[in-house]
Amino acid sequence: MDMPLLGLGTWPLAGDQARRTVRLALELGYRHVDTAQMYGNEAEVGAGLREAGVPRDEVFVTTKIHQDRFTEGTALESARASVEAIGLGPVDLILCHWPPRGVAPAQVAEELAAMRDEGLTRHIGVSNFNVSQMREAAAAAPILTNQVEFHPLLDQSRLLAAAREIGVTLTAYRPILRGEALRLPAVRAIAAETGRNPAAVVLRWIIQQGVHAICMSTSRERLAGNQEALDFSLSEDQMARITALTSANRRSCDYPDWQPDWEG
Ligand SMILES: NC(=O)c1ccc[n+]([C@@H]2O[C@H](COP(=O)([O-])OP(=O)(O)OC[C@H]3O[C@@H](n4cnc5c(N)ncnc54)[C@H](OP(=O)(O)O)[C@@H]3O)[C@@H](O)[C@H]2O)c1
Repeated sequence: MDMPLLGLGTWPLAGDQARRTVRLALELGYRHVDTAQMYGNEAEVGAGLREAGVPRDEVFVTTKIHQDRFTEGTALESARASVEAIGLGPVDLILCHWPPRGVAPAQVAEELAAMRDEGLTRHIGVSNFNVSQMREAAAAAPILTNQVEFHPLLDQSRLLAAAREIGVTLTAYRPILRGEALRLPAVRAIAAETGRNPAAVVLRWIIQQGVHAICMSTSRERLAGNQEALDFSLSEDQMARITALTSANRRSCDYPDWQPDWEG
């Protein structure tokens, strides 16, 4: 299956809450779930997926390998452990979580390709790679996606243009800025105009650009409401009014030890 446009994020869910949220999302129709070694919940996410009872080939499962495993040269064995922890057989997508310091993007891509060749995953990709890192990785192996912060207060137009040019999709993380984007006056106005909830408006703005989105909620009502993003369209004017907000260019996931040169 192709990667569904809207998926469930699972950070910072842990334990029973992670398991229950994944099962609930699948009951509501979600078919795309995102986890990571760093979240410490791969086993619980896997348990929730198994409990939901959806046929394995109808749900798209992503995990991410900690960037330090690439630096240490243990990425492949670490990916085997992740796939085992999730407990569903091969996953659909394995990403390198952040660009590892001191390891060339081409080498990261080759190590990811080895995971695919071993049958641990159907697709490979990267996360938090800047334009030049993404280009280098994609030149070395076919990269499905670059998972990056993407919401109405961040200008990702340069990265999106480059990704389109080389046939890589972007996947938006933190798409509603943990709820903050829902309070923006332009978003609220467009929600009133369309009769849709603000989260559906923001997620629609992302999806309508051909960008995938993963959003986290533990609430049945909000999980269901977020899915409305798939059911309507924004006009060109409404898209442009939200795009205008990206000039704020504010990043919320900024870790000095991990982040690349975002302008690179
Ligand atoms: N690759 C990376 O480096 C990276 C970094 C960060 C995140 N991610 C992934 O991206 C996923 C999504 O990002 P995120 O969780 O940071 O942020 P987010 O999805 O933008 O926001 C999640 C927060 O918004 C609330 N929420 C969800 N739907 C809502 C709605 N309709 N109305 C009001 N509040 C709503 C949730 O609370 P309730 O539970 O109370 O609804 C939760 O606190 C993560 O879960 C993770 O899987 C990846």
